[in-house]
Amino acid sequence: MPILPDEDFKDKLTFWVNGKRHVVLNPDPGVTLNEWLRSQRGLTGTKVMCREGGCGCCVVMVTHPDPTNGGACSYTLNSCLCPLCSVDGWSITTVEGLGGQKAGFHPIQRRLADFNGSQCGYCSPGMVLNMYGLLNKKPQPSQQEVENHFDGHICRCTGYRPILDAMKSFAADADPEKGGCIDIEDLDKHPCPNAGGTCNGASANGVNGTSAGPLRCRQNGISWYRPSSLGELYGLLEQHSQDRYKLVCGNTAAGVYKNDGPHTCLIDIKAVSDLYNCQPGPPLVVGSAVSLSTMVDFLQAGSDQSPFYNVLANHLRKVANVSVRNVSRLGCENA
Ligand SMILES: Cc1cc2nc3c(=O)[nH]c(=O)nc-3n(C[C@H](O)[C@H](O)[C@H](O)COP(=O)(O)OP(=O)(O)OC[C@H]3O[C@@H](n4cnc5c(N)ncnc54)[C@H](O)[C@@H]3O)c2cc1C
Ligand code: FES
Ligand code: FES
Repeated sequence: MPILPDEDFKDKLTFWVNGKRHVVLNPDPGVTLNEWLRSQRGLTGTKVMCREGGCGCCVVMVTHPDPTNGGACSYTLNSCLCPLCSVDGWSITTVEGLGGQKAGFHPIQRRLADFNGSQCGYCSPGMVLNMYGLLNKKPQPSQQEVENHFDGHICRCTGYRPILDAMKSFAADADPEKGGCIDIEDLDKHPCPNAGGTCNGASANGVNGTSAGPLRCRQNGISWYRPSSLGELYGLLEQHSQDRYKLVCGNTAAGVYKNDGPHTCLIDIKAVSDLYNCQPGPPLVVGSAVSLSTMVDFLQAGSDQSPFYNVLANHLRKVANVSVRNVSRLGCENA
């Protein structure tokens, strides 16, 4: 396999947070998006607690190019498990980008307050971003869908009833007197304190092709590679066959296997479009980089192909929680 020369790799990340462009040169592969947001940018609205993908207080929304078709993908993820090196070319929305006291609150923030769904407020940004992610994907969910969507969020003080009452008030089958659905047009009509004007995660300033091409960062004895094709991936595997390397996709296993490693070489395979091949079959073919959430949607859409597809989709919905499933991949699944 061809091994790419060093000069073919870039070592600079370019990404957008709440509409503002950031450039980071050769970041430490061990730093997470959560650590960078909070300690480097002072965006402490994104909280941190378990660092295991289990409490949801660190959830942010991301938008990035779809490796299969050049379109855009938007979803929520747990920033505590997301390596900063992953976010090249991404557009990230944190709670500060949705709204605040000075710039005006987002309708989801206001609704949570109106229903007394917040006490200490530590879980609230994650709850709000999670709901934002759902409405972005499905503007008129049912109350049951809203409840199912809050499978990865912990509140230690308010209790879940007022939080779920607030979030379910956005549902299509909720009592309109409780607030009612939000118009998709209004979902992103909110002031962005950083960029000014509206801040729209889905407008995706970052989805403009800057993430194209192979990436390499090296810090503290650890190299991070992002090959952009299967050929480059095989070349890297050959080149590093004697190293302690690990493939990285959603990096959610890091929330479970904390003592995995140490690794000297991390290879991010998310940009390899060949790993996203899906065919409804039979036989069912699913690429190893397809996220569990995408797989569930895919199985549901093709449920007429086999009675087992709905069974499999229901099983996958029981793995972890929404924001983990949005990034965790079938090829890395344990059970
Ligand atoms: C809160 C929480 C709950 C969880 N619950 C469950 C659960 O209920 N059931 C369950 O099975 N898991 C669970 N997990 C574990 C994890 O989410 C899954 O195993 C997930 O599928 C891992 O996918 P990933 O893309 O994040 O893998 P990563 O963390 O990126 O990688 C995990 C491993 O897979 C290897 N790998 C990466 N890409 C590929 C590939 N394309 N082909 C082959 N190997 C590859 C990596 O080298 C690494 O060794 C949970 C995790 C969290 C944080
Ligand atoms: S800090 Fe708990 S999920 Fe990230
Ligand atoms: S309001 Fe305190 S943790 Fe939820």
